[in-house]
Amino acid sequence: MKNQLCIVLDFGGQYNQLIARRVRENGVYCEIKSYKTPIEEIKKLNPTGIIFTGGPNSVYDETSPHISKEIFDLDIPILGICYGCQLMAYTLGGKVESCTKSEYGKIEISHSGGTLFKDVPEKNIVWMSHTDFVSQLPEGFKVTAKSEDCPCAAFECPEKKCYAVQFHPEVTHSEYGKQILHNFLYDACGFTGDWIMDDFIENTVEKLRNQIGDKKVILGLSGGVDSSVAAALLSRAVGKQLTCVFVDQGLMRKDEGDFVENTFTKMFDMNFVRVNCKDKFLSALKGVTDPEQKRKIIGTEFYNVFWDKIREQGTDGFFAQGTIYPDRIESGRGNEAGHGSTAVIKTHHNMVKMPDDIKFDGTIEPLGDLFKDEVRAVGEKLGIPHELVWRQPFPGPGLGVRIIGEITEEKIKILQEADAVFRDEIKKSGIESQLKQFFAVLPDVRTVGVMGDHRTYDHLIAIRAVTTDDFMTADWAKIPYDVLARVSNRLCNEVEHVNRVVYDITSKPPGTVEWE
Ligand code: XMP
Repeated sequence: MKNQLCIVLDFGGQYNQLIARRVRENGVYCEIKSYKTPIEEIKKLNPTGIIFTGGPNSVYDETSPHISKEIFDLDIPILGICYGCQLMAYTLGGKVESCTKSEYGKIEISHSGGTLFKDVPEKNIVWMSHTDFVSQLPEGFKVTAKSEDCPCAAFECPEKKCYAVQFHPEVTHSEYGKQILHNFLYDACGFTGDWIMDDFIENTVEKLRNQIGDKKVILGLSGGVDSSVAAALLSRAVGKQLTCVFVDQGLMRKDEGDFVENTFTKMFDMNFVRVNCKDKFLSALKGVTDPEQKRKIIGTEFYNVFWDKIREQGTDGFFAQGTIYPDRIESGRGNEAGHGSTAVIKTHHNMVKMPDDIKFDGTIEPLGDLFKDEVRAVGEKLGIPHELVWRQPFPGPGLGVRIIGEITEEKIKILQEADAVFRDEIKKSGIESQLKQFFAVLPDVRTVGVMGDHRTYDHLIAIRAVTTDDFMTADWAKIPYDVLARVSNRLCNEVEHVNRVVYDITSKPPGTVEWE
């Protein structure tokens, strides 16, 4: 059964994916499309509701994204947000002007009722970010909320099924944003809330069975969240027709390779092929100290090993990968979704380039419509261990970017042990959920110390912990001193060749999360 659909029309705003996620959180399936999508195509998709996003432009700029007036004749409810709100007013004959004072940040609005404000207190805080505002409404519209500086903070025309807010209901700073979106989806559009993860699993399993038939499927499993959930879903659909190839380059965290292998061989029905190639990687990395060079070697070796194994397994049947919806959007494959007029094209680690000699019957991306939080929900429902589903991000080159200078077997061992101790202490301290990423680094620095009566000259360990929303910027985490003290004690006492510990107190920018 097909889900009801909400379309988010992308006008280049920074919160577009967030809008789509918020809609999905409301139990409504949603896809992001470019504002350039032809009206005929929108009609064919038969959406139950449409949302116009924000955007950086002014409706009067010649180059700014516009939309055909016809979209308002489709009899589909539309919600305009920020730029989308101004565009709605402008296109339907209203007036937009520059504010004498732009509004940015948390602003109090007061509303006078209306569809969007059901169960919302008269005065509430919203997140504003605009320099233009709607100064005159199109005919038939009425103002439903205002702020001190914005006379049309929200307006609507239920007869035309048009609703608009100058603020951003999708960001958490808007106190009642969730309720406002809920009101649009359920009261204005009449969605039934049929986007449920249990149904997703059932429908996807059925679709995969139909698509795959009695053929084979091969999946590259990294042990990260996305490929693990894709593996579990495919296992449920076709069991032993699935082969997962897991390349262990020896740069994973302590015992991680075994944990991944145990999870997928014991808990799921599939063929599991583990390729242990630590020695091959170590010899390729011998004597190499330049960070970029190291990354390049690790990446190249990884794909050489991976594709060789795939050739060995045979390429009849399908190739599967753990691509998720944001990967498709960011690589410009998100059904024509694009950031305003210029789709951002970047290659993504979840979408690998296949060598020319390898040809499968097709590629399967079972998670291609899901956001990360939905992937995690599916993973939990499929019984993947919590530890794996909620894994913190781990870079493709693994500990290779956390061992500064030449990578040797001894250094890998020291770092794996140190990292395991640090993670264990964080877990025990109860602050784990406040940190987005935390790990140990081996900076290739030796310092003098004393141990009993002996002078030592041994390794320094740096520990890194960050809080962040999106990893584009990050703050170093204010870990309590007593936790830091226990970590430092244990590292020096329990990890051989460590005699000093430092805490990295650099934010991003100017630092990056990883050291290399
Ligand atoms: P940086 O160091 O750029 O890291 O601030 C931001 C986030 O990206 C992760 N990271 C990687 N992830 N392959 C990945 O899959 C990589 O090569 C890579 N490098 C960094 C990093 O762990 C952090 O979460």
